[in-house]
Amino acid sequence: MDRRFVIRETATVGPEIVRLVVEAPRVATHARAGQFVIVRANEHGERIPLTICEADPAAGTITLVVQAVGATTVQMNAKEVGDHLADVLGPLGTPTEIELFGTCLVVAGGVGTAIVLPVAHALSNAGNRVVAIVGARDADHLILLDEMGVACDDVIITTDDGSAGLHGFVTDALAMLISTSTVDYVFAAGPIPMMRAVAEATRGDKIVTVASLNPLMVDGTGMCGGCRVTVGGASQFACVDGPEFDAHQVDFAALATRNTAYLAFESCRLGEIGAEIDA
Ligand code: NAD
Ligand code: FES
Repeated sequence: MDRRFVIRETATVGPEIVRLVVEAPRVATHARAGQFVIVRANEHGERIPLTICEADPAAGTITLVVQAVGATTVQMNAKEVGDHLADVLGPLGTPTEIELFGTCLVVAGGVGTAIVLPVAHALSNAGNRVVAIVGARDADHLILLDEMGVACDDVIITTDDGSAGLHGFVTDALAMLISTSTVDYVFAAGPIPMMRAVAEATRGDKIVTVASLNPLMVDGTGMCGGCRVTVGGASQFACVDGPEFDAHQVDFAALATRNTAYLAFESCRLGEIGAEIDA
């Protein structure tokens, strides 16, 4: 049996959200903030993109945070220490453009916090003041708060139901910060409506705003066109040109439509996988 990509650690960090530490020495050595891997959980499985949340070249491991939303992610989250993944291809994508911007706001919606964390570290290491807004539907769905606390100068928490932090969306805290302080750069990752709302909140003040997009991907190398997004009126391939883009130029409506294309198929496959795991 192929023993590469062995899972060294697993931990549940939220409802149906698992943190996996996976052996992938070459990926760990070359990974930079903003990059991702394409993973197959099993030999005959589909390929899914996952952001590299952390990379530890000394240990030869990368950390992935997986929310069980489809057949493959349910299978991944059922894995245990000592199991392995069939493939881990990467690092892929264009790394985050890191500069000395000044004051940076990193806006994390739900499981998007795993995408924001490495970028927050990189911005901080470049000398920026980094303030995070981390939002979730409720206290249970807040993830990686300790890690964000280490990476950032300040962390503001919001929940939709008010069960932790400020009561409201991340964009409520964002509007408050923009109106009361100088903000030089904004980075956002989370659900599409959130990233679109962040872009609208910063457009008027022309604050540089970058969104990490999450289109469907297949090969991850620019060959299949599956990850096509519209940015500034032109087609871009998120896997090679992104996944990060100028949020003010992104056609979020088109992204939302493309991402729902296989929902019926995915729902059907999820039922089959549930039956296989129960059996
Ligand atoms: P969620 O739906 O619980 O939302 C998380 C937070 O986003 C909310 O608490 C709120 O603060 C904010 N938000 C949601 N809708 C908003 C709106 N209309 N306006 C302003 N703020 C809003 O998030 P979840 O269930 O953890 O996330 C799942 C979604 O994130 C999926 O759609 C998934 O595809 C997406 N996702 C995106 C990325 C990425 O790279 N951008 C990565 C992983 C997952
Ligand atoms: Fe195929 Fe990007 S995933 S071109």
